[in-house]
Amino acid sequence: MRIADADIAKVLIEQERIHQKVQELGAEITRNYSQKLAPDEHLLVVGMLKGSVVFMADLIREIDLHCELDFMIASSYGDATESSGIITIKQDVKDIEGRHVLLIEDIVDSGFTMASVLEILKKRNPASIALCSLLDKPSRRKTQVQIDYCGFEIPDEFVVGYGLDYASRYRNLPYIGVLKPEIYTK
Ligand code: IMP
Ligand code: MG
Repeated sequence: MRIADADIAKVLIEQERIHQKVQELGAEITRNYSQKLAPDEHLLVVGMLKGSVVFMADLIREIDLHCELDFMIASSYGDATESSGIITIKQDVKDIEGRHVLLIEDIVDSGFTMASVLEILKKRNPASIALCSLLDKPSRRKTQVQIDYCGFEIPDEFVVGYGLDYASRYRNLPYIGVLKPEIYTK
């Protein structure tokens, strides 16, 4: 038992299933970009802090290409479980003009965060931009977002672990679990 296990109602995606999916995504990304990248070009992998770090750390080791890493912080006003739609960039990436960019996110929920980050980045003329999200909660979508590489579609439940947090906790759980509602309603 881990200290955080007591706050989890159920395990939604086990560690081994995540590991398998990450291998599949890495192989697919490798295949697709092997054709896109010139011999001297590197894939620019941009992680959305902080939720994507665990996923990104595992995923990049399954990508058999030359990669560079960068990070962004976007925050949305609203409470802990509900996005307001107003997104601000708190930390930006370096120059992406002419680069092949792969954006890494933990979860697409309302879609507001990824829709606005993608819109901002597309204006900077990258050679290409694609989104890879570990999780997708399609039933909660309020704005359209194209997810090019998706790990798992999940139902409308608040999940934590494998990078995802509630009140800054649970990111270090190795699986994805549904948080007990009493934890975020108390
Ligand atoms: P969106 O802008 O509503 O799509 O929300 C995206 C952000 O909300 C994600 O990057 C997460 O940080 C957070 N989020 C949405 N759903 C969950 C969840 O179930 N658990 C933890 N964080 C979540
Ligand atoms: Mg996030």
